[in-house]
Amino acid sequence: MPDFTRGQPQGSATMLTPGFIDRATSRATDPRRELNESLGASTPFIAPKLFYDRLGSALFTAICELPEYYPTRTEAAIFDANSDEIAAAVGAGSTLIDLGAGDCAKAARLFASLAPAQYVAVDISVDFVRDALGRLQPRFPALPMLGIGADFSQRLELPGAVRSERRVFFYPGSSIGNFTPTQAREFLRGLRTQVDLDGGLLLGVDLAKPSEIVEPAYDDALGVTAAFNLNVLNHVNRLIGSDFVLADWRHVALLNEAESRIEMHLEARRDLRVRWPGGERRFRAGDRIHTENSYKYRRADLEQMFRDAGFVSDRCWTDDRGWFALFFARPDPQYDDRNAN
Ligand code: AVI
Repeated sequence: MPDFTRGQPQGSATMLTPGFIDRATSRATDPRRELNESLGASTPFIAPKLFYDRLGSALFTAICELPEYYPTRTEAAIFDANSDEIAAAVGAGSTLIDLGAGDCAKAARLFASLAPAQYVAVDISVDFVRDALGRLQPRFPALPMLGIGADFSQRLELPGAVRSERRVFFYPGSSIGNFTPTQAREFLRGLRTQVDLDGGLLLGVDLAKPSEIVEPAYDDALGVTAAFNLNVLNHVNRLIGSDFVLADWRHVALLNEAESRIEMHLEARRDLRVRWPGGERRFRAGDRIHTENSYKYRRADLEQMFRDAGFVSDRCWTDDRGWFALFFARPDPQYDDRNAN
C-alpha cells in the first residue's frame, strides 16, 4: 500500500503531501443504467449527487455566499460562537473524516481548535477535492491529509490508509437532509459500524422553519440556485449523451410542508422530447423532473434518529433564532446493531 503520510522536504520545513484514493471513478454505478431508470420512472428524477460535477461544485460554493442561503452562514456562526465547547467535546488527536468535503473550507476552519491527527476529505467530485487539498496542505504542512473520491451516498468503505483511532465523522451543512429520513438513519447506522467508542459524529442540520425563510434560500434572486439545478442537465448530457436543452427547462423550488422538505424540480417550458442512446422520453409543458429533497428536521426527530442508529446525542448547539443545529453524537455503547430494524 502506498505510504500516504510521508512528506517531501520543502526548503527547511517539511511539508506533507496529501494522499489520494479515487474510488468514485472505478466503483461508480453505471450512470446509463441509473439514468435510464430514473428518467424513465413514472415520476422522473435525477439523483442529487449528479449536481456535483466541477461546475456544479463551484456553483454550490457560490450558493453558500448568497444572502438568501442562510444555512452555511448560520452554521459557521454556531461554530464561531462555540468553538471552545466544540473542541472540548470532540477532543484533540481525532481522525477527522469530512463527508462531502467540497472545497474543505468548513473543516479547515476547525483545524486550529480541534487539532486532528489526520484529515480525511471524502467527496464524489474527485477533481474538486484534489484541487482543494492541494491548496490546503501548504497552509497546514504538518497535518497528514488524505483525499478520497467516493460516492458515499450508498455505502462508505474507508480504506486502510484512514487511521482507525478516534474517528470523528464531520458531516456539516445539513447534507444529511438530502437523504430521506429512512436513508439518513441507515447512513448513520453505517457510520456507527466504523467508529470506536471514543469516536463520534459532528453533524450540522437545518431545522424546520416557515416557507418565507426557506423557499428564497432555494430560489435566490440572482438565479445561482437555478443555474445549479439546470447544470445537472449538462452533466447528464455528458454522462449519457442525452440532448437536454437547458433553455427548455425552468427551476422550481417549493416547500412540501407535509414532508418537511424543500423540493427542487426542473419543469418543462414546452412539450418536448429528450433522446439519449438507448432511450427517450416525452415531456409535456409543466411536467417536472425531481432533482432534490432537502429535509428540515425538528431537534427531537434527530435525537430519535441518533438512537435508532446507535448514537447518543452528547451536545447540541444552535443559533439565537433556532434555525440550525450542530450536534456532537457519540456511539451508544449499549447499541446492538443485530437488533436494529
Ligand atoms: C448540499 N445540500 C445540503 C444543499 C441543501 O441545502 O440541500 C444543496 C443545495 N441545493 C440547493 N441549494 C443548496
